Amino acid sequence: LQFPPLIDTVDTGKFLVTAQSGTTSFFPGHQAETIGFNQAYLGPVVRIRNGALRPRVENGLSWPVSAHWHGLVVPGNHDGGPHLPVKPGEVWSPDMEIGQRPCTAFFHTHIHGRTARDVYAGLAGVLHVADGLDRERGLPDTYGVDDLTLLLQDRRFSSDGQLVYANSMMDIMHGMTGDTILVNGQVGSVAAVPKAVVRLRLINGSNARIYSLFSSDDRPIHLIATDGGYLPAPVQLETLRLGPGERAEILVDFSDGHGMSLMSEGDPNAGMGGMMGRTRSLLDDITGARRFEVLPLVVDERLAAKVTRIPDVLGGGQPDLTAAKVSKLRNFSLDMGMGGGMMGSGRMGRGMMGGMAINGQPFDMRTINERVRLGDTEKWVISTSMLAHPFHVHGVSFQVISENGREPRPESLGWKDTVVVDSQTELLVQFTQPASEETPFMYHCHILEHEDAGMMGQFTVS
Ligand code: C2O
Ligand code: CU
Ligand code: CU
Repeated sequence: LQFPPLIDTVDTGKFLVTAQSGTTSFFPGHQAETIGFNQAYLGPVVRIRNGALRPRVENGLSWPVSAHWHGLVVPGNHDGGPHLPVKPGEVWSPDMEIGQRPCTAFFHTHIHGRTARDVYAGLAGVLHVADGLDRERGLPDTYGVDDLTLLLQDRRFSSDGQLVYANSMMDIMHGMTGDTILVNGQVGSVAAVPKAVVRLRLINGSNARIYSLFSSDDRPIHLIATDGGYLPAPVQLETLRLGPGERAEILVDFSDGHGMSLMSEGDPNAGMGGMMGRTRSLLDDITGARRFEVLPLVVDERLAAKVTRIPDVLGGGQPDLTAAKVSKLRNFSLDMGMGGGMMGSGRMGRGMMGGMAINGQPFDMRTINERVRLGDTEKWVISTSMLAHPFHVHGVSFQVISENGREPRPESLGWKDTVVVDSQTELLVQFTQPASEETPFMYHCHILEHEDAGMMGQFTVS
């Protein structure tokens, strides 16, 4: 397994990413047409620290792109969302100020109506927010050796090795899933790890697939960080659910010298074919695989073993916003239009087949759906039916306070910006960054086909 080139901005606070096209050999002897940042497919890992940050985003493609910093808590005019397109040949260079906990974040294009296909074709990369203190925390921190960045995606290929982005109604309704797993843009790769404790930074960069990750030999996985940073202490898990747009960091102990495979259960949304009034066979073939292998990890004793035990504490934060004054309650229902009716729990929408909405309203670039006061903490209740939807909010961190009427699952602990909603999820959201009407923040389903089809809204913070 190869790791993306690491751009370390720790000294300069500057970096350049250029959207470009190229060809990628996913299968030997075949070249696929792809796009990426600074390379043919996907992008670099950019390590940033708190303080001034000056990205330079260039667009070498013939259509608009953007660079949305998914997981950075920055003002709306720095957020890189749909209102901040970079036109072909142009440059976007915001003067940013970063002030947040160390975490693993994500960046990707976010042009309304074409996010899904452009991310599918490769316009996404990874951010590490670092504070240089991981050694003191007792955490593995050697990039590509014991600190492995794993961007998980699934794709479909034609017989000649091209990426296939199908546009059947099913692919919109469920989101585009593939039958081939890519890790860092590579098919069928194997990761070498030291005989030690290894950190895996998992980023779900799939358009729609929800992974439920576990180890092939039942070895525990120790969850150390969720979207917004470290937990107070590691949490031992058997299975880790990760929806599109979510990140998690885990520790796996290889000090017994044995390798294992990172596995996943099938997509929980895949079995819904019958309920959507379709035959299940097509869907099951493409997406309904039961368990599958994501990545084999083999121990290579020549690699330097640095960390040999799982730390007891991490010193990260568990938000406790329940004590905060909640200024407002807002309800969001994630609706799927189908035929004339709505499949969601909300009101009737205008959506025809494939039309998606929130509270019955499909996304409209000119409509501000919500207005929030800067500094407030609000309760947001997200509901859905039929499918599980990964709900993401720009420019904020939130605490998940309940899921389906129960305590949050371990994956939903810590500071979050994306959470898989099965039926109803309650959030306490902290609004610390401003966003104007010109560059509002988005909230949306991170199944990118749903987002593009209208399951998105926008809000100001002032
Ligand atoms: Cu990663 Cu608005 O998205
Ligand atoms: Cu985002
Ligand atoms: Cu959705």
